[in-house]
Amino acid sequence: MRLVETLRGHCEAANGSHEIDLFKVMKMATMDVIGLTGFGSDFECSKRLEYSEVAAAFEYLLDDCNVRTSGGSLLDPRQIFYWWPSAQNKTNDTQRRLLRSTIEELMDEKRRSISSVSTGQHTDFLQLMILAQSENRITSEGLVDNLITLFFGGFDTTSITLSYALYLLWRHPEARQQVVNEARTVLTQSEASYDQANQLKYTAAVVKEAMRLFPPAPVTARYTITPLELDGVTIPAGALIYIPIWLIHRTTLNWKDPLDFRPERFLTQQVESAVTSDDETIVPYSWIPFSGGQRNCVGQRFAMLEAPLLLARVVSAMNFDFPDDYDPQPISTGPVQKPGNPMIVTARVRDDGQ
Ligand code: HEM
Repeated sequence: MRLVETLRGHCEAANGSHEIDLFKVMKMATMDVIGLTGFGSDFECSKRLEYSEVAAAFEYLLDDCNVRTSGGSLLDPRQIFYWWPSAQNKTNDTQRRLLRSTIEELMDEKRRSISSVSTGQHTDFLQLMILAQSENRITSEGLVDNLITLFFGGFDTTSITLSYALYLLWRHPEARQQVVNEARTVLTQSEASYDQANQLKYTAAVVKEAMRLFPPAPVTARYTITPLELDGVTIPAGALIYIPIWLIHRTTLNWKDPLDFRPERFLTQQVESAVTSDDETIVPYSWIPFSGGQRNCVGQRFAMLEAPLLLARVVSAMNFDFPDDYDPQPISTGPVQKPGNPMIVTARVRDDGQ
């Protein structure tokens, strides 16, 4: 795996260990995954351990959006009106243009290559979307908007999940060893198949438990379309209801010892289908990191394939030493929460690394 090779290279060049910002490195890895699977384009972030120009634009715009939606100056007109000639708005405009023009170029390239590929051979999401566009099911502008949404939805949340999972595994060496053992049993070749990725049951349980304790989206919201009766209280139609995912995941009403890290709870229970399960051992809707219902996360299955695979690969090859007293101190930025305390860790190649 490329990220592991890069980290190994850095460690070897620095006599065995190398200091990294783990959350940033996980972002680079997930950006590359979305670039390759969504756009058929290699951003090469984890190869160079730095953001490419387009990846940096994504990162900037995401942070800027978070600042505008959760910053302290929500009534500042410069933050609300993008046409206001402020330095922040100018940078936003430059980065947005860069992003859209890069995506348009990728689309043009893809359109040219598609003409030589038969329609049965879909290689990435962009190709599928372009085919939909050619059937007039979406406009060109709508296509770019959707690709950007997909990218934004896809990389930040998954990197937050991975970062917390790595933190939790550092705190729980016995769980870490189980992930290593599973990775070495299942991932026997340099490229993993879909079936192999699905065999990473324990690692997937670690990912789920990390998302239970630290759901990347701590809250979501819905409007009621009809009056709703809850515990004797009637909520009228048209009301905005906030759904506190973080609390739902951490309450004793839903979970035994909710603050304990115990991936095993996800091995015995069908939590992935919890929202529809009638399994009495699980409270429906008690695990909703991807939200629920018709507008839940479209990337759930993709994320549950990607995150365990990345985690297994990285953990079986590398050790990450956090500062002894490290505490992530989550902070909310826009729609997500993430580690507020930078994850500056020492990366080392595992002594028993393969
Ligand atoms: C661990 C990873 C992820 C988490 C925790 C997560 C979580 C969420 C949540 C909570 C929502 C909001 C649903 C609602 O409105 O209630 C959402 C929406 C969405 N997610 Fe994800 N997501 C993840 C990964 C991904 C990936 C990998 C992709 C794309 C490849 C993606 C694409 C989207 C999109 C496009 C939406 C908007 C769906 C809509 O409005 O219909 N997500 N996600």
